Amino acid sequence: PSDPALAQIYANSCQLCHANPAANAPLTGDRKAWEPRLRQGADTLLDHAINGYNGMPPMGQCVECSEEQFLQLIGFMANQPLPQ
Ligand code: HEC
Repeated sequence: PSDPALAQIYANSCQLCHANPAANAPLTGDRKAWEPRLRQGADTLLDHAINGYNGMPPMGQCVECSEEQFLQLIGFMANQPLPQ
């Protein structure tokens, strides 16, 4: 992410899994992997980020992240704007 605070959060949490093919997470910048997930809508994605979803840990290991930050991080990783 271009925002330094967000880039820091990304590097300390999301990146550990979302840039590691062995983690089975949709990879950062892999639009194809994210497309079916984005189709669930931003509310569901946010819910899964906050409450966890299978191998996705609750809060993605960022307990201090705000909803706004989660949405920005998801948009960054998906490399496309989130649906409403
Ligand atoms: C410990 C590893 C790990 C970390 C850290 C992590 N994720 Fe994930 N994430 C996963 C895995 C694994 C999945 C795939 C879960 C599945 O589909 O079964 C996933 C899936 C997701 C999804 C898609 C959920 C869906 O409904 O399809 C979102 C959104 C997400 N992560 C956001 C984040 C954000 C934002 C961060 C950083 C704040 C983060 N993750 C950090 C492992 C991680």
